[in-house]
Amino acid sequence: MIVAIDGPSGTGKSSTSKAVAAKLGLSYLDTGAQYRAMTWWMLSNGVDVNDAAEVATAAHKPTIVSGTDPAAPTITVDGADATGPIRTQEVTAAVSAVSAVPEVRARLVELQRSAAAAAPNGIVVEGRDIGTTVLPDATLKVFLTASAEARAARRNGELKGKEAADLAATQAALAKRDAADSGRKTSPLAKADDAIEVDTTDLTLDQVIECIVTLIEEKRAAR
Ligand code: DC
Repeated sequence: MIVAIDGPSGTGKSSTSKAVAAKLGLSYLDTGAQYRAMTWWMLSNGVDVNDAAEVATAAHKPTIVSGTDPAAPTITVDGADATGPIRTQEVTAAVSAVSAVPEVRARLVELQRSAAAAAPNGIVVEGRDIGTTVLPDATLKVFLTASAEARAARRNGELKGKEAADLAATQAALAKRDAADSGRKTSPLAKADDAIEVDTTDLTLDQVIECIVTLIEEKRAAR
């Protein structure tokens, strides 16, 4: 059972994917965290993230390891816990540039396919290009969407203290990142032809989880 969950930021991908995996006894992989970990390494090692050639040359250097237990997902870079550092504004601002570099994507897609192949009972993989590129044969593909306003409000709710910007600034930052993620040449953010689109604007988290669990159960019953 391979479940691909794609969509732009702020649609509830992470909370939904983790909860669905936990409920059904599946593994869980946050591919955005891997792009963030790569970006954090680049920033920490003096790589100019706006120089694609420099990023490409360094892409093979960091060792990124993701733990796939949905109850306690982990990520390390060269053995160091990266959970906190990958969520800073500095990493968020740089991640689209780093993830547009084909050598970065090739490296991480390989890790993602290995994780899916190694999952004992199946896996929920969340990202931007999982259904289109990473796991095109996934059992179920879901594409989550939500209005720009709802996404900005959710993202603001996740940011703490001084990092919480005003709503308009968050909405502008999200729009900028989505445009970069959708506009890049190598496997952009896109809905696979056979993905089921779920608009989460007016749904609670529990309703979205329930909806995807039902879709998975339908797939299981049909097999
Ligand atoms: O899901 P997130 O916001 O943590 O993802 C961070 C960035 O990583 C996102 O702006 C684009 C990139 N990304 C990607 O290019 N492909 C993926 N499969 C997942 C994330």
